Amino acid sequence: MPDTTYPPSAELAANAHVDAAKYDEMYAASIADPEAFWREQAQRTTWIKPFTKVKDVSYEFGNVSIKWFEDGTLNVAANCIDRHLATRGDQTAIIWEPDDPSEDAQHITYNQLHSNVCKMANVLADLGVGKGDRVVIYLPMIPEAAYAMLACARIGAIHSIVFAGFSPDALAARVNGCDAKVVITADEAPRGGRKTPLKTNADQALLHTADTVKCLVVKRTGGQTTWVDGRDVDYNAMAAEASDQFEPAEMNAEDPLFILYTSGSTGQPKGVVHSTGGYITYAALTHEIVFDYHEGDIFWCTADVGWVTGHSYIVYGPLANGATTLMFEGVPTFPDAGRFWAVCEKHKVNQFYTAPTAIRALMGQGPEWVQKYDLSDLKVLGTVGEPINPEAWNWYNDVVGKGNCPIVDTWWQTETGGHLLTPLPGAHATKPGSAMKPFFGIEPVVLEPQSGEEIHTYPCEGVLCLKGSWPSQMRTVWGDHERFEKTYFSDYKGYYFAGDGCRRDEDGDYWITGRVDDVINVSGHRMGTAEVESALVAHAKVAEAAVVGYPHDIKGQGIYCYVTLMSGEEPSDELRKELRTWVRTEIGPIASPDLIQWAPGLPKTRSGKIMRRILRKIAEDDFGALGDTSTLADPGVVDELIENRMNRQ
Ligand code: WTA
Repeated sequence: MPDTTYPPSAELAANAHVDAAKYDEMYAASIADPEAFWREQAQRTTWIKPFTKVKDVSYEFGNVSIKWFEDGTLNVAANCIDRHLATRGDQTAIIWEPDDPSEDAQHITYNQLHSNVCKMANVLADLGVGKGDRVVIYLPMIPEAAYAMLACARIGAIHSIVFAGFSPDALAARVNGCDAKVVITADEAPRGGRKTPLKTNADQALLHTADTVKCLVVKRTGGQTTWVDGRDVDYNAMAAEASDQFEPAEMNAEDPLFILYTSGSTGQPKGVVHSTGGYITYAALTHEIVFDYHEGDIFWCTADVGWVTGHSYIVYGPLANGATTLMFEGVPTFPDAGRFWAVCEKHKVNQFYTAPTAIRALMGQGPEWVQKYDLSDLKVLGTVGEPINPEAWNWYNDVVGKGNCPIVDTWWQTETGGHLLTPLPGAHATKPGSAMKPFFGIEPVVLEPQSGEEIHTYPCEGVLCLKGSWPSQMRTVWGDHERFEKTYFSDYKGYYFAGDGCRRDEDGDYWITGRVDDVINVSGHRMGTAEVESALVAHAKVAEAAVVGYPHDIKGQGIYCYVTLMSGEEPSDELRKELRTWVRTEIGPIASPDLIQWAPGLPKTRSGKIMRRILRKIAEDDFGALGDTSTLADPGVVDELIENRMNRQ
């Protein structure tokens, strides 16, 4: 627990949307009468037909149902574009910064955004996409990614973005998972000076999907080679001919807006479904309040639109607020470790939102990369994706923020749609490493893991759950409502179970301690250990595999694999390499194993259950306190694994 807290400057607090007194007042009101609170907050959204009912929520296991503003109608694209045209048509909506700094940035005004989104909507409609149809987006970080999202929203089609770093297999699984009609991709994705052959990946994926799936190809580099007539469609040619008008569809508040696949502790990734009215209201509200966004500010979230952070805080939240949002195609270290700060200076960024893994990587390069640039426009810094260690927090605060920019450490999830725990920049004295306070309407509880009882004492530690709902909560797992209920509402009845552990300190502030399930967080990317395991055992030479996380200086967690080979197979460094490549092809480079230990046997209970607790300890190089190993079928395997462990400190 740190001694130091960091209060906002008096100047920032004086101009902030929410100061300390207002937070207390609004938070209390949001809990005392959520219906009244959200009725008022939802007025920021432009409704076609206003809602009369605020919410209808049941967390009862077997009967979970979440509805917000259910009799209202609206269109999200109209909220993000059309309603701004009269007042800010010529204002920049999106600043696009390409991977290569010598290529020109683009400034896309709200008028241009409108025209481009309508063209994309017309192209999709020509391909037969209508209300409720699914469209998979597999694009680089280019403006067309935002056009595609908003075009789907305009039509009332449901988008599912697949991160461009995912493999063809992962793409195919997601296309099939939601029966998509169209996949939107680009020829190539430039990133960090290299090019990922996106269209070639899509070609491979489409071999494993229905023949009717169309492939809409956006030109990015011009590096396209193959073309399948009748299936592939040239976006740029069609858009050139398309009308720049498209009537936004009237959608019900509870119609799905998008699906986003995310990893869980069991089985294959699940399609998280977000709805329309509640999602846009909450994304916009949190964007404005948490980053203290003011008219004219330039907002930059460095995430990829393939993750929920990019959905809510590059596209939907900022554009619903009529903001200027920056979209960056590249990586923090290309062409050098000063790129983030060069972009901040170049575009006069006011709010900057990134992940701890990027901060740690840049911290290692030294402060001079930051000091070369004028960062005087920065006002608020944000972090998301994993717990931030105090050392990285302090560096962010001192070197990047020069002690003048409050840091908002925002805890949330794909499932939550928007921030749930975070300090507000003008209201709270922050603590390095703490996600601090619940946002309006959010009621966190700390439960005793075994009994599920609420802990009311301070300080305390346990599992983090949420009481009650908020508008941008996920509604279901696509095609599998039972899995939705089982994952989030069955372990602790009556609560939403987030899967994270937390500590609440004597002041009532929250500290996230990490996942309590078999999900690991590698460079802020969520991964199910089960997914990596099933990729490994799909290899012909692998008999069995167990995967756990271990502390990694830059990535937060690294991927540690215990692999038992088929009898007759010889372990070798070559085979390690082969398995690494194998997992990259099965899932994608983000799932690449860091360490592979050959395990002649795995520690199992007599009933055959792998004792992951022990494997985690060995991977952490902390095997002094393994706990009780007497229930193991063969306690001897543990000594062997310790003897040959990979991660010696
Ligand atoms: C972790 C990303 C600590 C957490 C928005 C959560 C965090 C998972 C933080 C969700 C934070 C996210 N501090 N941990 N500020 N933010 N996490 O779905 O374990 O990709 O459950 O959503 O990331 O990851 P997801």
